[in-house]
Amino acid sequence: MNTMIITLDGPAGAGKSSAARSLAARLGWCYIDTGAMYRAVAMVALEQGIPLEDSSRVAALAESIQIVFQDGSVLVDGRDVSAEIRSERITLATRPVADAPPVRDAMKRVQRRMADGRNVVTEGRDQGSVVFPHAAVKVFLTASPEARASRRHLEEMSRGRDTTFEQILESQSCRDEADRTRPVGALRPAHDAVLLETDSLSCDEVIDCLIALIEARKQSPQKTV
Ligand code: C5P
Repeated sequence: MNTMIITLDGPAGAGKSSAARSLAARLGWCYIDTGAMYRAVAMVALEQGIPLEDSSRVAALAESIQIVFQDGSVLVDGRDVSAEIRSERITLATRPVADAPPVRDAMKRVQRRMADGRNVVTEGRDQGSVVFPHAAVKVFLTASPEARASRRHLEEMSRGRDTTFEQILESQSCRDEADRTRPVGALRPAHDAVLLETDSLSCDEVIDCLIALIEARKQSPQKTV
């Protein structure tokens, strides 16, 4: 049986994670959160005292640790790091890691190995454009900066974190800039990606659109959806 890959790329807060996770659960497909992978590598590099700018050592680390997505958690070599990788400290440490071309190259290999022979929903910034250029369905999720920051604000509050909407909007615009201007693996839609604007869509509505795209692709595998 042929396997299928769907890539969901887009900026922070566009609703990728909730949509990708729910879609994978609904289809029974493998889920890959590539942002969590970059975060996990940054976390372990800090723990092991590897300088974040030492891109060849960080790249080797990226290929040596085992990252698993299981029941909504992220496990690194069997340890649940789901909460820790979302801290502000790790968010900041992730930037030089994700900017380094050797690390991105290593991640590309790891991500392709993870997807090998499986049906996969993968989310990130470069999944459709770089890592899986032959994916059957590529989607680029977007939303206005305000809508994205407002979603993040609700998420942060639900985690009991004390941040304001304005702080989130400000740090989001820094991350957007870093994502867009990264020399390798910059945030951009693949030329054949479907753009989905999520401002006025609920997570369920986004998932319905994604399932419709997958069904359309299954009906006419040779055509671009
Ligand atoms: O999506 P998330 O915020 O968890 O991503 C963490 C960091 O990893 C961000 O700085 C993002 O730019 C980077 N990233 C990346 N390539 C990906 C996924 C995430 O550079 N495919």
